[in-house]
Amino acid sequence: MTDKYAVIGNPIEHSKSPLIHQAFAKQTEQDLSYEKILAPLDGFAEKILELIALGYKGVNITVPFKLQAFQLATKLSARAQHAGAVNTLSFNGVDIVGDNTDGAGLVRDIEHNLQINIAGKRVLLIGAGGAAEGVLHPLLACKPAQLVITNRTLAKAAAMLSKVKAQTDTSVCVCGLDDLQGQQFDIVINATSTGLSDSALPLPPTIFSQDSLAYDMMYGRETPFMRLARSHGAQVVDGLGMLVEQAAEAFYGWRGVRPMTPAVMLTIKEST
Ligand code: ATR
Repeated sequence: MTDKYAVIGNPIEHSKSPLIHQAFAKQTEQDLSYEKILAPLDGFAEKILELIALGYKGVNITVPFKLQAFQLATKLSARAQHAGAVNTLSFNGVDIVGDNTDGAGLVRDIEHNLQINIAGKRVLLIGAGGAAEGVLHPLLACKPAQLVITNRTLAKAAAMLSKVKAQTDTSVCVCGLDDLQGQQFDIVINATSTGLSDSALPLPPTIFSQDSLAYDMMYGRETPFMRLARSHGAQVVDGLGMLVEQAAEAFYGWRGVRPMTPAVMLTIKEST
């Protein structure tokens, strides 16, 4: 019997996850279906219970349900606990198992696909919302020389820092956007939602050098962050690789098979 999977969000029409997982399934010869499902904003838990009753094996979770998925899970992976959010649920008997593959996806894209080691690098993480929180711990686990968190609302960055400070021996600190002047970073990651509204972050261009990687976790469009970094010579990458790699990690968790991602990335790029 074909195993059923889906991605749940609101809105969901834009999601590339079905294309990605269907490509993985074809490549690895797994008998599964994967669709996108819209859950009502006030009916996420009911929708999940309905899918479990229908025999679904697992789902990916996207905006705005990652926190609700965290709360609904009866078991959590260590990385979901660190992120405080869940992007992958597996339905195993009576258990609803929550995982978070976003950070692993980002790290794999940077280290494996782009061939840039995070260890020993100066890293700037911009943002202190769910997206930033999801990748913070995995980034620290890569042992950068220093990780600086910056955010428009500094108190939120400080709160994020206080959660990880005691758990890492990496040098990690918070810095206001205004105080970045004069600092330079090897890797700059934009985890804010500014790309959605096309708004520019007030970043001093000196944070980029010819050798910097500027990574926008948003995919499918050139954001003001990417334009700024490009005009100052940085290598600029959007979040497509992270999207495909987080999906590959979820697929591996469900099926025990690791799909090859480069061809799938190309397919998705061509479809946008
Ligand atoms: P997500 O789940 O995508 O992280 P979020 O939790 O709403 O969404 O977080 C959005 C992030 O983008 C936050 O870091 C937010 O900054 P604040 O904490 O100050 O709100 C950041 N952000 C959104 N719009 C922004 C803007 N116009 N300028 C600067 N930062 C912005």
